[in-house]
Amino acid sequence: MTQYSKRMVIAHWLTLALLLLAWYLGDTLSDSTDESRATLLGYIVHASVGIVILLLITMRLFFRSKDGVPPAMGNTMMDKVAHGVHHLLYLLLLMVPISGVLTVIQSSVGKALLAQNANMLPKAHGYHGLLVHSLHGTLVNVLIAVVIIHVLGALKHQFIAKDRLLERMILRRR
Ligand code: HEM
Ligand code: HEM
Repeated sequence: MTQYSKRMVIAHWLTLALLLLAWYLGDTLSDSTDESRATLLGYIVHASVGIVILLLITMRLFFRSKDGVPPAMGNTMMDKVAHGVHHLLYLLLLMVPISGVLTVIQSSVGKALLAQNANMLPKAHGYHGLLVHSLHGTLVNVLIAVVIIHVLGALKHQFIAKDRLLERMILRRR
């Protein structure tokens, strides 16, 4: 095996696109809450994209177990770090949406959505003291930091080592 399976490649790039969208929507939502003007639709759209990511990652882990992965490029310390980073990314990609779901359940957002009443949504400082809400935001920041490390690693392979690692994660015509 020299590269990732087709479905693993599609899932990888789809995750990137959905993650950017969920991040933007989450940030916009948080700003709206701070200004006490968040809407039910804003929560529904952000939560839906986040749940799609959760389902996609679950499917991706299933594909991974079925299709396998190409062998590590080498056996250096950096190869081991890259392997660890991949596992950390999967863990965070599960923990971020799960902490989002818990935020909805433990705050007044869930009740507001069930009652279809936007007046029940949290206003500025409305999440004060809700640990899982802070955790959701913190995990997103950790995820972004780990993604940056991952992308820097991929760029190093592409432009410094020039070992064509990126081709393992690209769809090829057969
Ligand atoms: C990978 C998926 C997700 C990403 C990248 C993401 C990203 C974000 C970001 C960046 C924020 C703003 C945090 C802050 O500024 O403090 C946020 C807030 C939030 N997210 Fe997510 N999120 C994801 C999944 C979910 C899911 C699945 C749900 C619920 C089902 C959810 C519910 C929330 C809620 C309730 C807030 C608080 C909004 C507010 O402050 O009013 N998120 N999310
Ligand atoms: C421009 C952005 C990105 C580039 C250039 C990139 C590139 C790559 C490459 C080349 C691989 C294969 C590594 C190998 O064969 O050892 C890979 C694997 C991986 N990438 Fe990315 N990636 C990007 C964004 C992301 C994002 C946003 C995530 C998730 C948050 C992500 C998660 C992963 C994971 C988990 C693997 C390991 C796959 C596995 O072994 O199951 N990547 N990436």
